[in-house]
Amino acid sequence: MAASALPAPPVLFGVGLGPGDPDYVTVRALAVLRQADRLVHFCKLGRRGNGRAIADAVVPSDPAREIALTYPVTTEWPPDDPRYAEAIAAFYEGAADRLAAELEVGRTVAVLCEGDPFFYGSFMHLWRRLAPRYKTEVVPGVTGMSGCWTRAHAPITWGDDVLTVLPGTLDAGTLAARLRSTDAAVIMKLGRHLPKVRAALREAGLTDRAIYVERGTMPGERVCPLADKVDDEAPYFSMILVPGLGRRL
Ligand SMILES: C[S@@+](CC[C@H](N)C(=O)[O-])C[C@H]1O[C@@H](n2cnc3c(N)ncnc32)[C@H](O)[C@@H]1O
Repeated sequence: MAASALPAPPVLFGVGLGPGDPDYVTVRALAVLRQADRLVHFCKLGRRGNGRAIADAVVPSDPAREIALTYPVTTEWPPDDPRYAEAIAAFYEGAADRLAAELEVGRTVAVLCEGDPFFYGSFMHLWRRLAPRYKTEVVPGVTGMSGCWTRAHAPITWGDDVLTVLPGTLDAGTLAARLRSTDAAVIMKLGRHLPKVRAALREAGLTDRAIYVERGTMPGERVCPLADKVDDEAPYFSMILVPGLGRRL
């Protein structure tokens, strides 16, 4: 297939790479991955970036093109500490300056994003700083939740069902209230919040309908009823789905 042409440089791309399985990388994303001057990914110190790991299957690492943006280590502060927010904001400011320097010399800069760039994506913090100044194209991606409900064989909304997407980081009361008032739910960012999320689902009477998905569409994928997930360990790539019960025709 002929690669679709990119706009004239300089351009900032946010490239959605889908939920993990490289078969879900779009034709447009592939064209950008192949042609961009710089491939940018976010990562934790000493770890492979999630976006880069998905792209590995379709575009091998090329040291001459790669830019790794390493998140600052901020474990000394809890996420709600203002010093944490300050450190992360300074990181995004520095990262935006670094990419601006590439754009200023006329390069095409592609930021690799897991799932969709505009859905809880780190890219959005760069986009906010750079899009007012530079030509920008966002390549939508298959979201992680879409990959997860597909692999779980669980249509998520029927008829007039209302879907609520919740970060597991919310407090227990808010989670339970939101769960009580929705028809279908996706709960993301589980990690250490799994016990709290489990309790909120119980309080909302939804435990029996809840499906746990780990690493959806990725190697090591696991799908099971939440009731069968007895431990409290949830990796970064995990979520809970509560499919709706709306109108079946
Ligand atoms: C910061 S959000 C990024 C979402 C991403 N931009 C998207 O479009 O799905 C990260 C959270 O998405 C969820 N997630 C994304 N992809 C996933 C997958 N393949 N399997 C399970 N959970 C996933 C997890 O809950 C994870 O903590």
